[in-house]
Amino acid sequence: MTTLVSRDTAVPAPRACPVTHAPSAGATVADLAAAVEFVEQFHLETVPAQTLRGRLDEVRREIDSTGSYTHTPAELAFGARVAWRNAARCIGRLYWNSLHVRDRRTVRAPADVAAECVGHLRDATRGGRIRSTITIFAPDRPGVPGPRIHNEQLIRYAGHRTPSGEVRGDGRYAEFTDRVVAMGWKRPEPAGRFDVLPLMVSEGDGEPELHEIPPDAVLEVPLVHPEYTWFADLRLRWHAVPAISNMPLEFGGITYPAAPFNGWYLGTEIGARNLADADRYDLLPVLAERLGMDTTSPRTLWRDRAMLEMMRAVQHSFDVAGVTMADHHTESERFLTHVEREERAGRRCPADWSWIVPPVSGGLTPVYHRYYDAPDPDARPAYLPPAP
Ligand code: ARG
Repeated sequence: MTTLVSRDTAVPAPRACPVTHAPSAGATVADLAAAVEFVEQFHLETVPAQTLRGRLDEVRREIDSTGSYTHTPAELAFGARVAWRNAARCIGRLYWNSLHVRDRRTVRAPADVAAECVGHLRDATRGGRIRSTITIFAPDRPGVPGPRIHNEQLIRYAGHRTPSGEVRGDGRYAEFTDRVVAMGWKRPEPAGRFDVLPLMVSEGDGEPELHEIPPDAVLEVPLVHPEYTWFADLRLRWHAVPAISNMPLEFGGITYPAAPFNGWYLGTEIGARNLADADRYDLLPVLAERLGMDTTSPRTLWRDRAMLEMMRAVQHSFDVAGVTMADHHTESERFLTHVEREERAGRRCPADWSWIVPPVSGGLTPVYHRYYDAPDPDARPAYLPPAP
């Protein structure tokens, strides 16, 4: 599970949403030192068919003649998995070595990239038995940047601005929604609260294109509450698969700008953040009212109580629907198991406390009561912050 959970949500919101045509790293030659370091690490941690010397000679020759080199399928899978292992914000790293890798390095045209993203969703969803999956598209090569997915995740809900100045749907995506509407996206009529946004994909520095995701590739869970039958009347739902799509994968001196990856959800991400944050769905006041709570003072703890009922509904609904979802108690335990395992393997396990500790009941989880090695922004392999 590639769980990126934080006070801050996974990835910085695309605030200004500029249409980005800035040339990417595609203009540069692969860094030989980074390539050597990666190949050495690969040979240290795995048992490759080829000798280290033979492979290094091959890589040097390829960089000399083409300015870049091609990872073997085994190197590719290793790089993607270790990038997950290095993700300091992710609580779900215990499973890093089981990441399912879809090698699509020959794919670069936007329509084909979009079709493969749909394929990714189908593969990863498996009717609810979610599998951690990454699809790796063409890398940047000297003068030839790879494709790029502009959406923060493959599945996100639109935020429609209404004449009254409010946003219907996910407030976080109001600007992205404006942008796709300006590009010609026909939003559903009437605009809903859970309208799946189209994929925005560009090839290198080319104009971005929009491609719809077919509804049958998007598994969603209708939200019900284990006790309150009226909860279903709120008509809330959430999608089953969180798939980050705007973080470039970089290792061995090569950048894969489009490499969408998914894990499965932790209940808190939806119940305590997406549906609760004031700039997202802001549903706690609605719930508190239905629950007849005294909202005149924060000291009645109505927000805390409403949030707990939201989380119960989310967890219960995913369970009833048979869709994989972790809880913060179990996942916290597993994370500490992971840290121990890493230490036993002679590795450090940098972690970002503020992202690892869940946004509710922090002190009830063991991850709260300790500190971690500081994250190293230069560590590679890595999933990099999104390009601006
Ligand atoms: N927090 C993000 C969301 O709510 C998802 C980040 C990745 N989470 C995960 N469990 N892999 O959509």
